[in-house]
Parts: sequence; C-alpha cells; structure tokens
Amino acid sequence: MPPEARDLLHWYDRHRRILPWRAAPGETADPYHVWLSEIMLQQTTVAAVLSYYRRFLELFPTVEALAAAPEERVMQAWAGLGYYARARNLHACAKAVAARGGFPDTIEGLRTLPGIGGYTAPAIAAIAFGVPAVPVDGNVERVAARLFAVETPLPAARKALGVAAATLGQDPDARARPSDFAQGLFDLGATICTPRRPACALCPWRDPCRARALGIAADLPRKTPKPVRPERHGVMFHVTDRDGAVLLQRRPPEGLLGGMTELPGTPWRETPWTQAEAMALAPLVADWRQAGTVRHVFTHFALTVEVWRARVPRIPPGTGTRGFLRAADTLADEALPTLMRKALRVAEAKHPL
Ligand code: ADE
Repeated sequence: MPPEARDLLHWYDRHRRILPWRAAPGETADPYHVWLSEIMLQQTTVAAVLSYYRRFLELFPTVEALAAAPEERVMQAWAGLGYYARARNLHACAKAVAARGGFPDTIEGLRTLPGIGGYTAPAIAAIAFGVPAVPVDGNVERVAARLFAVETPLPAARKALGVAAATLGQDPDARARPSDFAQGLFDLGATICTPRRPACALCPWRDPCRARALGIAADLPRKTPKPVRPERHGVMFHVTDRDGAVLLQRRPPEGLLGGMTELPGTPWRETPWTQAEAMALAPLVADWRQAGTVRHVFTHFALTVEVWRARVPRIPPGTGTRGFLRAADTLADEALPTLMRKALRVAEAKHPL
C-alpha cells in the first residue's frame, strides 16, 4: 500500500504546530509572512527563527515597509541569524515585490526574485498560493528516504528523494490542499519522523513506511561523510577610550559577513598568530592585554579568535580601516554578527582593566 496523502492531512488537522506565520485552518496565509518565514527557516530551526520573525514584523509590518527601510536597519534586525547574503537578498526581494505591487503567485514567477530558489519558490507557492508543489527541505528528504527505504546516501540521493516527494504530492488529496500537505510534511519531519529516534508508533504513515518494516528507519537517510572543516585563526582588538567608546569597523560589502560590523583584527589564516605578528597589526599602539578566546563555526571553516583589549585616553579619528567609535550602551543597535557578539562579551568581561 503506498502512503496516502489523506492520512498525513488527517494527522496534520489534529497535530499541526501553531506557528505565527501559519494561517488558521480555512484562512489564507499572507504571502509576506510566508516568504519571510521561509527565508529565515532555511538552515535555521523554528525555535531560533521565532523571535527574529516577530521582531521583523514589528519593525517592518508590510513588504512595502521592508522595501522602504534603510539597508542598515535590515542588517541590524537580521544580525545573529547568520548567512548575511540572505538578508541582503531579502531586502532586494522586498524592493522588487513592492515595485511590482505584490508577490508573483507561480513557482516560475517567484524564482525570478532575489534569494528565492529551488526550495523557497515551491514552498511559498504551495503555502501562500495553493500551488500543488512539494518543497523539499531536510525534513521532507528524511520522510521520503524512510517511506521508500532509499538507501543511497545524501547528497547523491537528493534527486531521487525529490522525485519520491513529488510523487507523494501527485495524490489528489495532496493536490487539493497543497499548503497543508507541505506543512504536514514539515511537521511530521520535525515532530515524529525525527533524525535520531523517530516516533514510528505515532506516525500516520507507519503502515506504508518501508524503512519501518525493514527496521532501518532511524538509520535513514544515509549520508556520505563530509570532509573535515578546516581550522582558521585570527586576533581581534577591543580598544576603548576614556568615555568607554569602542572602536569598531565595517566589513567590506562582499563576502563572508559582508557589510556587518566587526572589531578590528588580523586576517583569518590557517596557522595561529604569534603575539608579535598580531601586535604589528593592532589598530594603535597601546598596552594590549589578552582577554580570552572565542570559537565560532562557519559553514566552511571553524575559527578560533584571540581577543586582546586595551584602554587609551583617546582614539584618534582615522584609526583602523573604515573605523568608527560607538558608546558601549549603543552596541545593541549595531549589525553585529554572533561571532562579534561573542568577542565583545569576552572583552567586556575583562574591562575595566
Ligand atoms: N520549515 C520550513 N518551512 C516551514 C514551515 N512553513 N513550517 C514549519 N517548518 C518549516
């Protein structure tokens, strides 16, 4: 017996999660809310997204408000969510949508917009516009791998799992309720068909699930081991003046953490910095002291940063590259990525000298 969409939909009607971007049963979701949540939820958990989502809607209640906001405000509101190119694309997309007077309601139309791709286009089309499509995220891949006992490891299995998920979506009951079917798959993956210990006894698809029948549900999807993440090392400098203002700088607009605020520092390289090497790159001559170490894992490398601190009477204008001073009590308004927040916390724990 193949899995039937109506069993998932019946389960979803009783067990759906209450999430702020979701429409109540029978209501239509707001495309702005759906788009914003889907962009935020890529590679981030629901728990991490909730407070950012609410804050965004407070600051930018409509797509027009978001389009009209200065980029700086958008980056600030996004700071801490990671993947900052996504925030820049979000802003560009809002501008495009405001200019054309609303979101397109087809997968092809959505795909022409900045930051909307192979997953987000069908997700928004299905959830906001009822287009019969199955967006395939990690949850959906896992559910499909288990239902059909696909033993090919990811990422090689990705295409086959997409086809399997699309097949599920062909069921007339799924086509009648595309939004609920897509979100039912997400919820099943997040609450029942979980990565480590799936709660198969509670699953609406326990009978047709081939992996369950074979006793291998918890082992799927298999994954080809990832290459180990390279290590990088850097030094950051936290200097304050007699008023307690901190020297910060803006990162170049392109590349990792593009346009975000940072502490001045050395480049990040494969070998640790000696004290002499680091001091030669300090933004000014001072009595530098070691404050502590910060570690941060990015997608493509892991970074260890030594934080040095100093206090000087005055920080001359022009210190550092793209440098500027900020009072300690206004740092919350800066577009500070998580790495920089960690470094500031380490430095501040040691001040006053
Ligand atoms: N993950 C991605 N999109 C989601 C949604 N709309 N609901 C729950 N989890 C999700």
